[in-house]
Amino acid sequence: MTSDPHIEITRQGAVQSIRFDRAEKKNAITRTMYAAMTVALKAAEDDDAIRAHLYLGQPGVFSSGNDVQDFMAFAMSGEMGTEVLDFLHTLARLKKPVVSAVDGLAIGIGTTIHMHCDLTFATPRSLFKTPFVDLALVPEAGSSLLAPAFMGYQRAFAMLAMGEDFSAQDAVEAGLVYKVVDEGELEERAMQAAQALAEKPPVALSIAKRLMKSSPDKLIERIDEEAAYFAAQLKSDEAKAAFMQFMARKKS
Ligand code: COA
Repeated sequence: MTSDPHIEITRQGAVQSIRFDRAEKKNAITRTMYAAMTVALKAAEDDDAIRAHLYLGQPGVFSSGNDVQDFMAFAMSGEMGTEVLDFLHTLARLKKPVVSAVDGLAIGIGTTIHMHCDLTFATPRSLFKTPFVDLALVPEAGSSLLAPAFMGYQRAFAMLAMGEDFSAQDAVEAGLVYKVVDEGELEERAMQAAQALAEKPPVALSIAKRLMKSSPDKLIERIDEEAAYFAAQLKSDEAKAAFMQFMARKKS
């Protein structure tokens, strides 16, 4: 149980899974969903019995990203709340290994979340996309720092600024996804990987992760810098127009 019905937390052995459970809205993530995930991640980090995190979506959709209605509410009220930033800081500071499993759409933070994961599995029909600039927004979740570092500047630009579609195979080539696996075995493979990581000596594993990822402080600094631009852009007329266009599309 969590404080949000759309975030499902389960524990299997030493693995804690967080599953997006809002298929009717393509797993769009609301403020309360971010808050529920932060609580669950922190609880697992503090619990010696949990040794790995696993992120799961629904068949055909991992997540369509931040809830656009919430974007509109932020834009109109000018009040961002702390839920998203708390979640991103928590994600950036995770010491335990994180595995994710993607089947289908992974948009916005549905893509950038995997830049904080250690192993991501995706099905052939998965699609990664970050339409930040098309929405008059800017890259978030530290992606402006992480993506150029591991996929190279031009590929990162194509993803984060151009908003190009990345297939599962493109994502493997870009270093965002570890392996492409069939739909029928996705969650089993991801769980096996999480369980294998959970069985490793935890201190050595967390040091290995820390060494490879470098200090989270620089990342958090970038997350905050992005967030300041993001908040300013959210209030812009061009962003409001983009959100209205998405919402109006549903009425036609
Ligand atoms: N925020 C809020 N609601 C969303 C959403 C989002 N990010 N993504 C999808 N939904 C809702 C739709 O409004 C629709 O709700 P309704 O049935 O009450 O009208 C429902 O989820 C199904 O979405 P729909 O657009 O009908 O499905 P689709 O298969 O045609 O398209 C997407 C799926 C994800 C491509 C499309 O919904 C989309 O572009 N969503 C916005 C993605 C986005 O810009 N995210 C922010 C990134 S920074």
